[in-house]
Amino acid sequence: MERTLVLLKPDAVQRGLVGQIIARLEGRGLKIAAMKLMQMDQALAHRHYQDHVGKSFFPGLVGFITSGPLVAMVLEGKEAVAIVRATMGDTNAAKAAPGTVRGDFAVDMGMNLIHGSDSRESAQREIGLFFKESEMLTYRRDADRWITE
Ligand code: RTP
Ligand code: MG
Repeated sequence: MERTLVLLKPDAVQRGLVGQIIARLEGRGLKIAAMKLMQMDQALAHRHYQDHVGKSFFPGLVGFITSGPLVAMVLEGKEAVAIVRATMGDTNAAKAAPGTVRGDFAVDMGMNLIHGSDSRESAQREIGLFFKESEMLTYRRDADRWITE
């Protein structure tokens, strides 16, 4: 089963949208394998966003992502990476389609509420930055047989 890293960014916590965003992801049938409230420090922000080091928006991105508590979670399910990305909407929330998290709750490129890994490889790398193997739980849900064939 595929796993992906999701961050409900500091703007989601500050605006009280954590529950509504998790409800959308859970509602799609994705299973929570791990979850915690935490604050990213500079070092973790640099490692997480390593592909963006040196870009013009990088200092602002790090300032924002380290500015307050966020919720980190590992979600599991068939096609979890792509399903989370589709549920998030366009990076630039101003262009995100209605029905997506960003399209319904955000308007800005920076304050875009949610992160989801962009590939299986990124997911594996990012999950390792945020969670120990022992923090990820494997369990059965009775509803799973009604979610995937
Ligand atoms: P994220 O990694 O945060 O989930 O967002 P994403 O995949 O949709 O976007 P990504 O390209 O990975 O960019 C990471 C974050 O950097 C900010 N950004 N600003 N001004 C710009 O051109 C620009 N490009 C990216 C966004 O806040 C984005 O979430
Ligand atoms: Mg990204």
